[in-house]
Amino acid sequence: MFDTLTAMPADPILGLMTKYRDDPRAYKIDLGVGVYKDEIGHTPILTCVKKAEQHRIDTETTKVYIGPTGSADFNLLLTQLAFGHDNPALLANRIRTVSTPGGTGALRVAADFIQRASTRTSSGQAVIWVSDPTWANHTGLFEAAGIIVKTYPYYDYDSKSLKFDEMKAALTKVGPDDVVLLHACCHNPSGMDLSTDQWDQIVELTKDQGFTPLIDMAYQGFGDGINEDAYGVRKMAAAVDTMILCSSCSKNFGLYRERIGACSIMGKDSASVNVAFSVLLYVVRCLYSMPPAHGAAIVETILGSPELKQEWLDELKVMRDRINGNRIMLVNKLTEKGAPGNFDFIVQQKGMFSFLGVNQEQVALLQQNNGIYMVDSSRISIAGIGLTNVDHLAESIANVL
Ligand code: LMR
Repeated sequence: MFDTLTAMPADPILGLMTKYRDDPRAYKIDLGVGVYKDEIGHTPILTCVKKAEQHRIDTETTKVYIGPTGSADFNLLLTQLAFGHDNPALLANRIRTVSTPGGTGALRVAADFIQRASTRTSSGQAVIWVSDPTWANHTGLFEAAGIIVKTYPYYDYDSKSLKFDEMKAALTKVGPDDVVLLHACCHNPSGMDLSTDQWDQIVELTKDQGFTPLIDMAYQGFGDGINEDAYGVRKMAAAVDTMILCSSCSKNFGLYRERIGACSIMGKDSASVNVAFSVLLYVVRCLYSMPPAHGAAIVETILGSPELKQEWLDELKVMRDRINGNRIMLVNKLTEKGAPGNFDFIVQQKGMFSFLGVNQEQVALLQQNNGIYMVDSSRISIAGIGLTNVDHLAESIANVL
């Protein structure tokens, strides 16, 4: 049976991790996968996580199955974090949440749910619209669920800005049978976010067109802050009948390998969302039966304790400030080293990523000659920059340009 298979290329993002690890050069720089790094290139375990983990070890009494929804406390606390405590949809009992294996798990659950719930095209497939560009794995995971993936314009590589008018024009043609994926904040890969005013317009358009929004929130707290980054999610939830939210605790809690996230569905009333939830649970059961519990236990311990929550918010701010500081540092260094062009857009963009704006050949040269690793599209993970490598980085970029 295996003889009929042809090899798949390595994942464009994860493949870089292995390549980087195997590179013996001491001066190599990892700007590949979206993982927070401190000044010495280490991805630390947050202090609040260590404390919560110790607390769980001391108090946990069983490892019995947790069930397809995962932990009810985690689900509630994370839903409140995303939608806000006083969200009318939450107060009206119109939201249901399951814990999932990471944000990717949440998206895959959402994908299978959409394929079951949507009015299909004549080919029997649902349709989802994603931004051009979007996270490299979005397309694969929706297609794996049998969904047709279409794109709407989003980022203009030449002017390094949002193609907002084109985006709106494209979404004006999307009908109520389809789903539109939006990035809540820290757009991956471009770092180019909607302003609050642009969110307001997209929310209005969603209401008018009647399509279902699926918001992917993988970086809450990495842009401007926990509440600021949830602006679009909260505005959308207050305005439409139906939406889906996929969240991740990988980055903001630094729980990458624990695989914890959540998929929330919001319906027009409590009764209809209960029916939808039964379908969501069926999907979970078929995909992986039930989510891992450890990461959820850590997050619920943190969010459930005022002291630990404050400690977490402080640690999150340190990560956010470092990334923003790196953005400024890189632009200053590029200017200092005489790199041609204007790089101010890097400072204006949000979250872990920006496109450097070099071509694929230059990306390859940077890797080959300078040990600098980034995704082929020239997406750079800003957290990989530090005081000790920024000179080598800026010099190499100036040279290749
Ligand atoms: C990224 O985009 O680098 C992260 O979301 C990690 C991943 O799984 O791709």
